[in-house]
Amino acid sequence: MTRPLAVICLAAGMGKRTKVSIPKVLLPLCGRTLASSALLAAAELKPARMVVVLHNQMEKVQASLQKELDGKFASIDYVDQGAPNGTGHAVQVGMEPLKDFVGDVIVIYGDCPLMTAATLQDLVDLRGDAACSALTAYPDDVTGLGRILRDDNGNFVGIREHKDCSDEELLIDETNCGFYSFDSEKLRPALSRLKPNNAQGEYYLTDVIADFVSQGEVLPTAEAADIAEIMGVNSLADLSLVQSVMQERILFDHLNNGVLIVDPAATWIDHDVEIGSDTKILPGTVIGTGCKVGSGCEIGPFAHLRGGTVLEDGAMLGNFVEAKNAHLHQGAKAKHLTYLGDATVGEQANIGCGTITANYDGEKKHRTNIGARTFIGSGTVLCAPVDVDDEAMTAAGSVVRPGSHIKARELWLGVPARYLRQRELSAAGEKKA
Ligand code: UD1
Ligand code: MG
Repeated sequence: MTRPLAVICLAAGMGKRTKVSIPKVLLPLCGRTLASSALLAAAELKPARMVVVLHNQMEKVQASLQKELDGKFASIDYVDQGAPNGTGHAVQVGMEPLKDFVGDVIVIYGDCPLMTAATLQDLVDLRGDAACSALTAYPDDVTGLGRILRDDNGNFVGIREHKDCSDEELLIDETNCGFYSFDSEKLRPALSRLKPNNAQGEYYLTDVIADFVSQGEVLPTAEAADIAEIMGVNSLADLSLVQSVMQERILFDHLNNGVLIVDPAATWIDHDVEIGSDTKILPGTVIGTGCKVGSGCEIGPFAHLRGGTVLEDGAMLGNFVEAKNAHLHQGAKAKHLTYLGDATVGEQANIGCGTITANYDGEKKHRTNIGARTFIGSGTVLCAPVDVDDEAMTAAGSVVRPGSHIKARELWLGVPARYLRQRELSAAGEKKA
């Protein structure tokens, strides 16, 4: 039987080392933030409760997380740690909304966004009936990390923070990653016994280990299988390293789903992008969060999809095309040097080279609706709001004024564009002016 699960995410730290004004846990990561990435990974375990411990710029962090995670969890509590006084203090505060909770409590960090649900689940499974299970690692550089203390039989008996280590303990190469699964009923009393008797005068969460052992507990540990998962972000340089791992994960997921990404090293895809199989993505392409791409599409080289753009099956966006909040229906094409902002493009429409939907009048954004099988001539500027009905056409270089309505099969041309005549269509209903 699986026990109820609660997650406590520690994110009250100051993050001074990033040297930027934005709170560290809100740094961007492939369309999410550091904190939302960490929380969404833990959320895959379907925890009954989630608690986020905040303090530094709390209002801003909470508002941002609430917006990002809206509707994604059954229950999420935000608590203010007050002046951060160590990881033990943070978990004491994090346990306050969990007074009546009985089950597994896992602790994660808001600045460690690469931790996976699978590793957290392994920690929960590993714990069994013990008070705690912990994740350890053998990193190349152990500077600043807590060391894992073991007795002569190899049993895990404690964690010593770097600053409190003896010369001998500093030589220990097994370190604490900071991820644990606890038995809520054993964690509570151990937390209440914490004392700040250490080099930093803080309440260390790591001190609960020796406390458990003194109660006769035998505590299991697991070595982190992938050292990337425990990477934390302290600086913007760290962020770039974490970002490259996350980007690789995202790209590999799409490749494994049959998306032909010609050069992954030259392609950027955010989280929360859907792409159908047999779609080909050429180098220089950037696809932002929330975009949806069907099957058999072709994107790029050097295309930019953003703002929830949708490409239905077989649609094409080519060289130097930007699409924002655009919806291209099946088989619609814009292959060169085009901006489609706040636009709908009907099926099989052909958007000529250099077409611009001028969506912004300096105050407001307006929509452009382009019908099915339309032919928009090269260099057309559609000053929104504009409606172009099915099978209509604009001649090259036309500037279509705001409020224009080009009706089905009409051909417009000029600056400003005016009705010229009806468009002639071949029997197949295509091309031909
Ligand atoms: C902690 C561990 C150390 C481990 C290391 C792994 C302790 C005492 N030490 O050290 O054994 O090797 O992580 O990265 O736990 N935080 C709060 N409130 C606080 C203090 C911290 O929310 O009062 C948050 C921070 O924002 C951060 C996380 O907890 O996300 C870890 O804190 P940090 O100060 O980085 O701990 P370390 O010294 O790295
Ligand atoms: Mg740290």
